[in-house]
Amino acid sequence: MIKDLITKNRSYRRFRQDVAVELDTLKDLVDMARLSASAANMQPLRYILSCAPEKNALIFSFLGWAAYLKDWPGPREGERPSAYIIVLEDTRIGHPLHCDHGIAAQSILLGATEKGLGGCMIGSVDKKGLRRALEIPDHFEVLLVLALGEPGEKVVIETVGPGGDIKYWRDGEGVHHVPKRSLDEIIIG
Ligand SMILES: Cc1cc2nc3c(=O)[nH]c(=O)nc-3n(C[C@H](O)[C@H](O)[C@H](O)COP(=O)(O)O)c2cc1C
Repeated sequence: MIKDLITKNRSYRRFRQDVAVELDTLKDLVDMARLSASAANMQPLRYILSCAPEKNALIFSFLGWAAYLKDWPGPREGERPSAYIIVLEDTRIGHPLHCDHGIAAQSILLGATEKGLGGCMIGSVDKKGLRRALEIPDHFEVLLVLALGEPGEKVVIETVGPGGDIKYWRDGEGVHHVPKRSLDEIIIG
């Protein structure tokens, strides 16, 4: 079950923008992050939720999409995410940040996958711009933006070829291919 979910949980960057994601769904996903592991149990993460078209459009303007797809500027109007969860650190907690946000993001995306949604972690964020636009107080650090919605593209996994190229690519039919290193390559001892 969990392996199926992890396999299905791909990074989706094109969505059916007309399919709304409810606020309660986002809250339920954050609840899964809330229940996840946290270094020293400090729980420094905070969240901003968005599922309204205007707020979504604002957030979208600060995101960078699929750096390897040089000719693709990101999802066009109509295929953009229907919702976002912005993951922030409350720096007032004052404890060194470890990988809490990665764990939280994965919990959220696995939960989204189980609900028939899909998403993408976005680290390429104009954090200053987003902070200003959403009037985020200085003591919150933007860590990641999670784009969410009903997937509107097909994503397939393949094994990295002999040339070792790990760059994802899109074929003529618009299918997104993600090369993954083999188990033999990554287990080193
Ligand atoms: C921390 C992190 C940051 C990422 N940032 C971006 C990003 O800024 N833009 C983007 O399009 N994808 C981003 N991704 C998605 C990766 O490109 C994606 O995970 C990778 O291509 C493998 O595809 P998969 O998630 O389907 O396995 C990010 C992923 C992670 C884990």
